[in-house]
Order: sequence, then structure tokens, then C-alpha cells
Amino acid sequence: MNLTHTSATHDTIRAVQWHGDYLRLLDQRLLPAEEQWIDCRDTDAVTHAIKDLAVRGAPAIGIAAAWGVVLAAKRGQPLDHALAQLRAARPTAVNLMWALDRMKSRIAAGADAAALEREAQVIQEEDLAANHHMGELGAALIAPGSGVMTHCNTGSLATSGYGTALGVIRAGVAAGRIAQVYAGETRPWQQGARLTMWELVRDGIPAKLIADSAASHLMTSGAVKWVIVGADRIAANGDTANKIGTYQLAIAARYHGVKFMVVAPSSTVDMATASGEDIDIELRDPAELLSVAGRRTVVEGAEAWNPVFDVTPASLIDAIVTERGVIEQPSVERMRAVFDA
Ligand code: MRU
Repeated sequence: MNLTHTSATHDTIRAVQWHGDYLRLLDQRLLPAEEQWIDCRDTDAVTHAIKDLAVRGAPAIGIAAAWGVVLAAKRGQPLDHALAQLRAARPTAVNLMWALDRMKSRIAAGADAAALEREAQVIQEEDLAANHHMGELGAALIAPGSGVMTHCNTGSLATSGYGTALGVIRAGVAAGRIAQVYAGETRPWQQGARLTMWELVRDGIPAKLIADSAASHLMTSGAVKWVIVGADRIAANGDTANKIGTYQLAIAARYHGVKFMVVAPSSTVDMATASGEDIDIELRDPAELLSVAGRRTVVEGAEAWNPVFDVTPASLIDAIVTERGVIEQPSVERMRAVFDA
């Protein structure tokens, strides 16, 4: 167990790696059982990796998509087509559209493949810097020795490194503000059980896995002072789309007097979307619910409904932490003060 926690020792995983003429991705479908890498040599391979969740997490899919555009440019393929197919890979995380819009404007300005490569590199580096900054800002809100709970995976695997909500947790542990982490399993894809626990155990952070359905019971004990989550899209009024189950955690947190923190870079903020009602929520294959680890667990003939994100209203959020600053009790006015400035 690593007992000397610092920000630096908690920052060892890089799941999205550019290797000059191909993109190497740590295959998140196989963790923690296997650490296998996928080498994407064209835009199709990157698009499939995003659709199939080999790479996932809002910032990471934006970064991967930027590299997907670079691959098209290097191969002399039509860039409009590459942009369109990457954009359609997943609907909810606005980081995907944000990164592609940024590449598109560089293309419109006449950027060649080398310039697009530099832009993708900057997108990736800015994300890492934002995460370290948000880590410090978010950790400062937490009283020393607190227990916290998180949902899904928002760590190095979901970003260029360090993480958003998990970045706050890393910084909070390093500063002695967080003494215990609880991670929800995050059914059905188990990002919490498979990915967050892998990251936390690897970094020697005191963490306990709980069933998603144990969250309210845990909160009655007083062991959790903050729920800390990431985001896939934050609307102009502060409503936040994140992994399915986040909304019920926010309701339970408010009921029990537990604070609720959303941590996301400005690339997750979508001021063009007025409220959560306007966010496109991804529905995935019901088969993801009917099996566990590829083994059917539900009777043949059963149907399932599998929305993979939900919207937490701004009124249930105590703080949105971005690299531009902390927005407490988010509202249209407070969001505008930071993001329309
Ligand atoms: O379906 P996923 O695994 O891509 O969903 C990921 C989440 O919901 C994360 O909480 C969010 O993208 C923030 S990651 C820093």
C-alpha cells in the first residue's frame, strides 16, 4: 500500500497515447482482468473504439476523436466524412462535439496534418492541466478526514490523466482531506467496480466498493460528507448529464444532508443547451443489462430498457468545479458569469 500520497504518485495511468502514426488505447472493456492495448490506424478504428467503449469517459472520447481526425488527415482521407462519423459515435458527452468543432475550425483555417496533430496534442495537454487544477479547487471544499462517494469512472482512464472527480479525490487524499472513498459499482457496465477500483487500488487509496443500491443506506451512517461525480454535459442552467444513477445519488445526498459536487472541464459545459431536458440521453443495447461478463443472467424473452445517462437538476448540485473556477449553487446567472465572460 502506498502511504505517501502526493498528486504526482497518483498520476501514473495514460490510457490514450499518440504514437506518431497511430493511436494506442487501453481497452477498457477488458479491465481489470486484462491490460490489452488497441492500436487504431484509421478513423474507422477510432470510431469503433468510441462506440464500443474501448475508450470511454467524456474527455477521453473527445481527445480520441481529435486523434481520429489527425489519422484521416495523415492518410489523405476526406476530413468532412471523418468529422461526421466521429461526431455520430456517441450522443451525450459534449466533449466529443467540442473537440471535433475545435479540429474543424483549424481545418477551416487551412491547417495541414502536422498542424492538426499539434492541435490534438494541445487538446490532450490542456485536459491534463485542467484536471490538476480542478483537483486542487475541489479538494479545498472538503473538510479534513472526510469520507466521500463517487460513481462511474472519472479517473485517468476517462481523461488524458489524473481525472475529474477522481482527480479531486486524488488531490483530497494527498492533502489529508479525504480518508475513505466509496465507489458505486455502476451497473450495468461496471465502470465503478472494474475501472475506478482498479485505479484506486493501484494508487493505494483507501477505497471500498458498494453495490449501487447501498448508497442511501451508506449515507444514513454519516460516513460520507460529499458525493463527487463527473459530467458528460453541463447545460447553461447547471443541469448535469452524467452516468445513469447519478440523479438518484443527488436526491439521496440532499435528503441526508450530504453535499454533491460535479467536477468537469469547461469542454463539458454546453452553453448552447438551455437545460437538461434538451440533452440527448444515449440508449444502449438492452443486451448490456441482460448479461453479466458475457453470460446471460436474465430469462430468454425478457426485455430491458438501458438509458446510460441521466440528468441531475442544478438545484441538487452544491458545487460545479471547473478549471475556470467553482460555481456554488449553480444557476443560469452564475454559469453565465463564468462561461459567457
Ligand atoms: O458511458 P461512459 O463510461 O463513457 O460514461 C462516463 C461517465 O458518465 C463519466 O462520469 C463522465 O464521462 C465523466 S468522465 C471524466
